[in-house]
Amino acid sequence: MTANLDVKSGRGDYRTIVGPGGLERLGEILNGENLALPRSIVTDTTVGPLHGRKLAAALGLDLLELPGGETNKTWATVERTCRHWLGNGLDRGGSALAIGGGIITDTVGFAAATYLRGIAWIAAPTTLLGMVDAAVGGKTGVNLPEGKNLVGAFWPPRLVIADTNTLSTLPARELRAGLAEVVKAAWINDRSLLDLAPEAIEMGYDSMSPQAWEALVARSVAIKAEVVAEDEREAGRRKALNLGHTMGHALEAATRYERFLHGEAVAWGLEAAAILGRRHGLLSADGEKELRTASRKLGERPGIADLDAGAVCSYIAVDKKRDADGIAWVLPTDDGVVLDQRVETAEAVEVLRELQKG
Ligand SMILES: NC(=O)c1ccc[n+]([C@@H]2O[C@H](COP(=O)([O-])OP(=O)(O)OC[C@H]3O[C@@H](n4cnc5c(N)ncnc54)[C@H](O)[C@@H]3O)[C@@H](O)[C@H]2O)c1
Ligand SMILES: [Zn+2]
Repeated sequence: MTANLDVKSGRGDYRTIVGPGGLERLGEILNGENLALPRSIVTDTTVGPLHGRKLAAALGLDLLELPGGETNKTWATVERTCRHWLGNGLDRGGSALAIGGGIITDTVGFAAATYLRGIAWIAAPTTLLGMVDAAVGGKTGVNLPEGKNLVGAFWPPRLVIADTNTLSTLPARELRAGLAEVVKAAWINDRSLLDLAPEAIEMGYDSMSPQAWEALVARSVAIKAEVVAEDEREAGRRKALNLGHTMGHALEAATRYERFLHGEAVAWGLEAAAILGRRHGLLSADGEKELRTASRKLGERPGIADLDAGAVCSYIAVDKKRDADGIAWVLPTDDGVVLDQRVETAEAVEVLRELQKG
């Protein structure tokens, strides 16, 4: 019981294997894919004790446990990883396996992109966000004090193993946050997936069947794979994946990345985009309601009522997607999204105020 999705990439296509128990069958899966066992496994200090150590012991592999969290997605952690590999004699022909959330796959993928000018790596995402978003698409990188993801590389893994059993240990809040990206993906290209996200929230990990988790992840991966196959380097279509992210990033930055999980900020951002879509005549009132309801069904998230809307929106101006004509937003339509919509900061402030009123 697994779903295989092939992701096209200019640097070599790779497969994403989704389903329960992938890590237990790692040796077998690698054999089937004609890939050698990795030489090193890298994880964080939370996922190590939960999943990494067992895997490393079963395969007799070296395990590096890095400190987790956005504050450790840095050059320093990349250096530590590379020096660890060097100390363990990992050579150019060897590969590494990253097991963890988006922080680990972004950091280890970037280390793999630069170590000895690039080695192969395998991604084993263990958060829902990692499975449906971060581990697929080839973007790797770390943060600078000036902002998130400011250095990085397109360096796709050779294989992605999304073992949905690992979600059993993921805190419910992290699961809900990951579902915001599922709602985003659903709006872009698979509206029937919209119903699965609230079902997953209501049931929680344990009550939803392994098949349903597999389907939810596989269908989300399929949307991301389709988008990045068309536009790996974000010249056009890939921007669709930024739906909900312009206001989401501003909310995260304005609260110093302390209040919201990324997905929670994106859930607010999806509502902001829905309001803007309607205001710009791109989305019907029903469509606005549908997207906002889907976002609300993601459950409780930290509030925004106390925030200064003007101060939050001042962070939009530093968004990377800015170009000469102002800020380009991705806005929802009744059957998908449109890219590069110009939104004045003053209008964004009005929309945020509307959102604050509830
Ligand atoms: N490369 C991309 O295309 C891309 C896309 C989206 C997001 N990202 C990046 O992903 C990062 C966020 O990823 P994330 O949300 O996975 O965060 P994360 O890696 O910090 O994981 C969230 C928390 O859950 C813990 N955890 C992970 N798996 C677990 C498990 N199975 N059981 C229990 N605990 C577990 C982690 O230790 C961490 O504390 C951000 O830095 C973001 O920029 C990258
Ligand atoms: Zn995101």
